[in-house]
Amino acid sequence: MHYLDNAATSWPKPDAVYTRMDAAFRQLFSPKRGTARAARLGASQLDDVRALVARILGADDPRRVCFMAGATHALNTAIQAFPLAAGDAVVMSAVEHHAVSRPVRKIARERGIRFHVVPYTDDTPFDLVAFEALLRDDPKIKLVATTHASNVLGSILPVAQIGALCRKFGKTYLLDAAQSAGVLPIDVESMGVDMVALPGHKSLYGPPGVGVLWIRDGVPLATYMEGGTGGDSGKHELAPTTPDGFEVGTIPLPQILALGEGIRWVFDTGLSTIHHHEIRLLSRLLDALATMPEVTIYGHRDVSRKTPVVSFNVAGFAPKPLGEKLFDDFGIALRAGFHCAPMAHESAGSAASGGTVRASLGWSTTDADVDALVAALKSLLASR
Ligand SMILES: Cc1ncc(COP(=O)(O)O)c(C=O)c1O
Repeated sequence: MHYLDNAATSWPKPDAVYTRMDAAFRQLFSPKRGTARAARLGASQLDDVRALVARILGADDPRRVCFMAGATHALNTAIQAFPLAAGDAVVMSAVEHHAVSRPVRKIARERGIRFHVVPYTDDTPFDLVAFEALLRDDPKIKLVATTHASNVLGSILPVAQIGALCRKFGKTYLLDAAQSAGVLPIDVESMGVDMVALPGHKSLYGPPGVGVLWIRDGVPLATYMEGGTGGDSGKHELAPTTPDGFEVGTIPLPQILALGEGIRWVFDTGLSTIHHHEIRLLSRLLDALATMPEVTIYGHRDVSRKTPVVSFNVAGFAPKPLGEKLFDDFGIALRAGFHCAPMAHESAGSAASGGTVRASLGWSTTDADVDALVAALKSLLASR
């Protein structure tokens, strides 16, 4: 199989991730609960992973790192538990994933919150001029939520400039780092970010079932889900303090410790080494697709402005059946359709064709994988 679906989830994981998950599942009891030595050991190892996550974000206080079930859970918490009243407004980009846009649409529908969408073009994936005008004209904007990079187009948004404008106008900035954590450098201080959501299972090479919400000290987030934390057990109410107020219920310790191994692997390998590998293959793929007149590539072609994601369509083929054929006949695993981000397709012009075929590269991708996709497309076009 040629695995080209790393933007959905990375595969395979480093060996240490599988080993740690298995060992932790067998050996460790519920952390933050219980007096057994294993439970206490689990709690201290949990804090080691918090420190690793803080390091990948450039944050200095690991106690602001809250483990959640995934990026979707983290984004829902940040958006739905943020203090907003009817008439307040949220700003998002025009390439948001459903994990951001659906909670925003839900609070708009149910609580009278308004939202603005900042225009996209291939050249300017987030129009900073239009954004600044919005911030100036609408004082009821309270929260700005954007992805770091589009999961459909790979386009990298100008996060530091968005963060600087949020600081200037006193808005809270929520960053969806699902497509960037482990791919691009993140620094919450220089980028002016107030909350970051990330999944464990993509480019941090952890397992599914764990993600993170990092919350800057002072962000007035309420609790989202109520329940037990293991501490404060005698109290009736849950306080919105990090991390416990956001880690209710029995948290998935094996997944969290395995995520720690994934992050260690990213640090040991080096973000820039991983990035160079992926960008070299991205260039190889884009160059090959550019020689095929039947192929339309969406988004910017400049690899310095993209994550290793390529969305394309092939004349005469609808994306879904093409994606299925690529797997069934050529063993190429990728994704086709709307990729949970219809706004990105509306912005880039691929909505009417039913979305795109998306190839997303990762550390495990080889030249042979890229060449196999190109050869398969040529063969399908030749046999039309
Ligand atoms: C940009 C973006 N945000 C959020 C998510 C949601 O991540 P998860 O499904 O791990 O919760 C994804 C997943 O594909 C994504 O690409």
